[in-house]
Amino acid sequence: MNPACGIFPNSCRATSLLSLRVSFLHSDSVRARGGSFTSQRRPGWAVIVPGHWVGAGAGSGLCRCRGTPRYGTQPGWLPAPPGTGRLQVQLLVAWPAGLKLVHGIPLMEPIAQQWGPIEDFQAWPDDLLISTYPKAGTTWMQEIVDLILVRGDVEKACRAPTHIRIPFLEICSPPPVPSGVQQLANVPPPRVIKTHLPFQLVPKSFWENRCKVIYVARNAKDNLVSYYFFDQMNKTQPEPGPWELYLQKFMDGKLAWGSWYDHVCGYWAERANHRILYVFYEDMKEDPAREIRRVMDFLEVELPPEVLEKIVQQTSFQIMKENPMANYSSIPSVIFDQTISPFMRKGEVGDWKNHFTVAQSEAFDAHYQRRMEGTGLHFRTQI
Ligand code: A3P
Repeated sequence: MNPACGIFPNSCRATSLLSLRVSFLHSDSVRARGGSFTSQRRPGWAVIVPGHWVGAGAGSGLCRCRGTPRYGTQPGWLPAPPGTGRLQVQLLVAWPAGLKLVHGIPLMEPIAQQWGPIEDFQAWPDDLLISTYPKAGTTWMQEIVDLILVRGDVEKACRAPTHIRIPFLEICSPPPVPSGVQQLANVPPPRVIKTHLPFQLVPKSFWENRCKVIYVARNAKDNLVSYYFFDQMNKTQPEPGPWELYLQKFMDGKLAWGSWYDHVCGYWAERANHRILYVFYEDMKEDPAREIRRVMDFLEVELPPEVLEKIVQQTSFQIMKENPMANYSSIPSVIFDQTISPFMRKGEVGDWKNHFTVAQSEAFDAHYQRRMEGTGLHFRTQI
């Protein structure tokens, strides 16, 4: 168990890497600056993980732990050394990895806590929103859109990691990491924005301004398997637990961002009322050039065939897996532990067959039929 978890009994799973240059609110107790620390054996705010000092600063506003400064190279709590010492300091701040309901939809706790500015977000008419249920191919579409907008200039598309190039609207991390809304305040138009919000939670200003939206949907079984592996490596979300229970949670709509069924159906039902391009992951796999051309048409961007071909290549699974600006390797391993499961995991249609038992597949299909009947929405679980 991550020893930092004890400080958030209900939900804390993750620790996020901040900076070494942080003064604690209780600065008379522990100071961590530039790799050294001072401890005066006063009550403070620190907790340890193996081999590191870890601090949870009250100044972050998200940390609620209390305790006495501790140190050591083993997990757990040890007495603080008297006086002043010098240690390798790695400052981490723990934050909750639980879910909280927002208008009936389970969202990551930090998002729920800072929901106001997200709901009130002011979209501009030339904003482009890329929306998905988590693990439906968001990053893939982000890379495609970015490459279209830079007209296939690969160097330009490698200017920054995905989450910097295309901010994530609702994401909230502990300060000083800016929230998605804060990040977007500094992005000049035309902005491209990522969201996982279901249709009804998308800030109204997107619809009032008639913003374009690209929605990517992936078949439920592969989407679920991908989410299961992601939740193992993504320390900001609740522990996925055993597969059978996770499967049930997916069917019950209890994972972060809620029900897959409602999500894909919500945008599907509204696609004619708004400027929504609905794209299927399976179609992208089957014929990427065809689907990229659809996106180009939607964005009203014309590109010569050789540039389109270059975009197809550059957004292939293998190239993106090796591209540090697209594979999330820039996210610290305390947040995305890619040794557990890589972000670019398999990128296939039909991997669900390696994870569902026959009985699970049958029960899932029966439930699926009931949930999706009459929606007119059809997915392929193999191509
Ligand atoms: P798997 O876990 O099935 O491999 P998101 O970006 O929405 O988080 O989705 C991640 C999923 O999309 C992962 O699925 C990932 O491998 C897959 N993916 C990312 N880029 C891809 C690409 N270029 N081609 C195919 N799949 C891709």
